[in-house]
Amino acid sequence: MTTPPAAGPADPDATVDADPNAAPAPQPDTAPNVAANPQPRTAPDATPDVRLDEPAVRCTDLSYSFGDTRAVDGLNLEVAQGEIFGLLGPNGAGKTTAIRAITTLLPVPAGKISVFGLDCARKRMQVRRVLGYVPQQLSADSGLTGRENVDLFARVFDVPRSERRARVDEALTAVDLTEAAGRLAGTYSGGMVRRLELAQALVSAPRLLILDEPTIGLDPLARASVWDCISQVRAGTGMTVLVTTHYMDEADEHCNRLALMHRGRIRAMGAPGDLRADLAAQLGADPARVSLEDVFRHHAGSGLTGADHEGGDFRDVRRTRSTAARLR
Ligand SMILES: Nc1ncnc2c1ncn2[C@@H]1O[C@H](COP(=O)(O)OP(=O)(O)OP(=O)(O)O)[C@@H](O)[C@H]1O
Ligand SMILES: [Mg+2]
Repeated sequence: MTTPPAAGPADPDATVDADPNAAPAPQPDTAPNVAANPQPRTAPDATPDVRLDEPAVRCTDLSYSFGDTRAVDGLNLEVAQGEIFGLLGPNGAGKTTAIRAITTLLPVPAGKISVFGLDCARKRMQVRRVLGYVPQQLSADSGLTGRENVDLFARVFDVPRSERRARVDEALTAVDLTEAAGRLAGTYSGGMVRRLELAQALVSAPRLLILDEPTIGLDPLARASVWDCISQVRAGTGMTVLVTTHYMDEADEHCNRLALMHRGRIRAMGAPGDLRADLAAQLGADPARVSLEDVFRHHAGSGLTGADHEGGDFRDVRRTRSTAARLR
C-alpha cells in the first residue's frame, strides 16, 4: 500500500498567490563539515510564487493538540533556504506533528506556517508543489518494482509526460538504485527501501525536502548511504532539507543548524558546533569534551534514556518499532 504523498496535482483548497519574486536567498550558517550552499536549481519554473527573500520554512507560534495532548506548543522556527536543518527531540516531542503541519497534511489551528513565503493554511496546493516528503511510516509499495514506485510518484506529482522517464531515471541514479530498479521493492534491504523513498520524493524536483527519521532502524552502513544520497542531491540542487533524527552523530555531521524540541517547544537552536560551545561555556567545561548528546540531555532533561522521559507512550513505541521492522 502506498502512503498518499503530501503533494497532489489537484487540491480543492488551492488558491492563487500574487506574491512577486524578490531578492536572492540569504545564506544560512554553515557547519564546518557541511558544504556551502549552491544556488537552488530545483523546478524553478513550476512555482512562480515562491519567494526567494523568505525562509524555506517559517513557523510562528504554532500549536497543535490531539485532544488533551498538546503535541506542539507555541513553536517558532525558521529554516533558511538551502540549509540542512535538523529537528531533534525525544519520542513524543512533537517533531512529526510539526512536520505534518508544515507539509499541510495537518491543518494549522493556531499560529502560522509559511513555506517560501506561501501561507500553508491558504496556499496548500502551492506549498505541496514545492515540497517532497518522506514520512516516518513506509511509503513504498513492496508489490511494485523500484522504478514503478518512483514512476507512480512522478504521475501523482504531475511530472510532465515528456520528462517523466528522464526524471525517474535521474531520481533512481541519485539514490544509486539504477541496477536494482527492475526488482520488486519487497526484495530490497532497509537501506535500499529508504533510498527508494528518497527517489520518490525527489522525482518532483522539490525545493524543500522533508525527511522524518530517514535512517531509523538502519545499520550504520545503510545510514551512511542514505546520508550520502541526501548530501549529494542537496549539493547538486541547492534544495533545502528539513530532517528529524534521533541519531546525534548524524545531526552533528550533516546538519547546518539544529533545533532541539521537547514537549512541543524548541529548547535550543543553532549550528551544532555553536550549541556544543554554548553549553561548554555555560558549564565551564572543555568544549572538546561536550557532545551533541550532552546538549540534548541538558535541554531535554534526561530525555534520551533517563527517568524524566520514558521514551514516549505505547503508541510511540509500537509505531517506531513497526516502522523499523518494516524497513529491515
Ligand atoms: N494521531 C494522534 N493521536 C493522538 N495523539 C497523538 C497523535 N499523534 C501524535 N500524538 C501525540 O502527540 C505527541 C507528539 O507526537 P509526535 O509523533 O509529533 O512526536 P515525535 O517527536 O515525532 O516522536 P517520535 O520521535 O516518537 O517520532 C505525543 O504525545 C503523541 O503521543
Ligand atoms: Mg515522529
